[in-house]
Amino acid sequence: MYKTLEKKIKNRTAVVGVIGMGYVGLPLAVELGRENFKVIGIDINSHRVNRINSGKSDIDDVKDKDLKPLVKSGNIKATTNFAVLKKVDCVTICVPTPLSKTKDPDVSYILAGVSEVQKYLHPGQLVILESTTYPGSTEELILPMLEETGLEVGKDFFLAFSPERVDPGNKKYSTKNTPRVVGGITPQCTKIAKLFYEQTLTDAVPVSSTKSAEMVKLLENTFRSVNIGLVNEVALMCDRLKIDVWEIIDAANTKPFGFMPFYPGPGLGGHCIPIDPHYLSWKLKSLNYYARFIELAGDINSHMPEYVVERINRALNQKKKSLKGSKVLVLGVAYKRDIKDVRESPALDVIKLLQNGGAQVKYNDPHVFSIRMDDSVMKSVRLTKKILLGSDCVVVLADHSAYDYEFIVRNAQLVMDTRNATKYVKKNREKIVKL
Ligand SMILES: NC(=O)c1ccc[n+]([C@@H]2O[C@H](COP(=O)([O-])OP(=O)(O)OC[C@H]3O[C@@H](n4cnc5c(N)ncnc54)[C@H](O)[C@@H]3O)[C@@H](O)[C@H]2O)c1
Repeated sequence: MYKTLEKKIKNRTAVVGVIGMGYVGLPLAVELGRENFKVIGIDINSHRVNRINSGKSDIDDVKDKDLKPLVKSGNIKATTNFAVLKKVDCVTICVPTPLSKTKDPDVSYILAGVSEVQKYLHPGQLVILESTTYPGSTEELILPMLEETGLEVGKDFFLAFSPERVDPGNKKYSTKNTPRVVGGITPQCTKIAKLFYEQTLTDAVPVSSTKSAEMVKLLENTFRSVNIGLVNEVALMCDRLKIDVWEIIDAANTKPFGFMPFYPGPGLGGHCIPIDPHYLSWKLKSLNYYARFIELAGDINSHMPEYVVERINRALNQKKKSLKGSKVLVLGVAYKRDIKDVRESPALDVIKLLQNGGAQVKYNDPHVFSIRMDDSVMKSVRLTKKILLGSDCVVVLADHSAYDYEFIVRNAQLVMDTRNATKYVKKNREKIVKL
């Protein structure tokens, strides 16, 4: 089985199935399609499937001009029908792994995807989980389901975990040139999964087990969450000390070793950093271990929206205004610069807190045309001189590069800058309040 699959992967006759065609699945499908694999994307969202089949991408990092030719050549097609798995040689699972309301891992999407794989599992198939999850998931949840078929792992079929590490919006590192970490259930599983990724991506780094590969991803994202938590706390300290936190970070960053800059902000967003560390702490709880750094960072980061609103309140008070009744214009509701993803975006919390405080809130985001707030929908307003002038406070929450910050500061009455986006603005700096 190994030799046959190896040959198929090398000569591109292996058909690849990608379950979940979102931020992770679609860019992977495109890289595979570019390398002449026939890729079938399987998604439960029929609207998304239809859009992909007409060459249209909902993902910032995949442009229509890159997707369209691959759809046209037949290298990529999408479907809602899992029965195609019958003819698929390699299948990657890229479904969401959110948290439940009680902040526990919600692996129901993985289980739903794997139960479809189980139905169509056949000898010679490679199954790879890419969704971020707690250490032990592949071995404890997926393997037993697939072995129920009577097929043997490492012999009849191959199972591995390889975390996607893509950073949406990153101009330098994409799915293509970010090395992959790969851990299989058996050495043969690792070897074939590594070979699979090496065909399309820059590098694949093997580790000793699926559990190790799962832990690598959680270390990476916990590292980010904890360091952002630390720097957010430093921002709170600097506020009390009346020191500019941005100046401190820039100066510390001149040290050529032993320091890596992280920047404060209005809170964490996206499908990864606010969520993934909780997968690890949840698992550790079952082993009687309390993951202190994770919980502390989560606590600090999740309170940043409140701190932003407190700072807006203070800045308005300085101008003898109250938050209640003030007009506040939020700039950037995506969770970070130059993308349109609002999942877990701290902007949604900031807007809600401002509204609860009695402010009249509008927003502009060149990437996000509307947002759902509880039962209502807010639409992005045009960023004009008039709206800037008419707002008591303009709050920068995502530092999109499309913004003309000179123009914003020139025309605004007061700018609360949570991202140091106005760093290079020369004039009217007295109007700017930085986090
Ligand atoms: N977004 C990121 O930046 C990023 C980066 C690295 C890793 N990850 C991880 O990758 C995984 C996927 O994240 P994403 O951002 O691509 O999510 P996404 O929401 O953008 O895409 C997931 C897709 O899966 C589909 N789906 C849901 N259940 C399904 C099922 N049972 N069968 C088939 N399709 C199904 C959804 O319709 C959606 O199109 C998560 O575990 C996430 O933590 C995400």
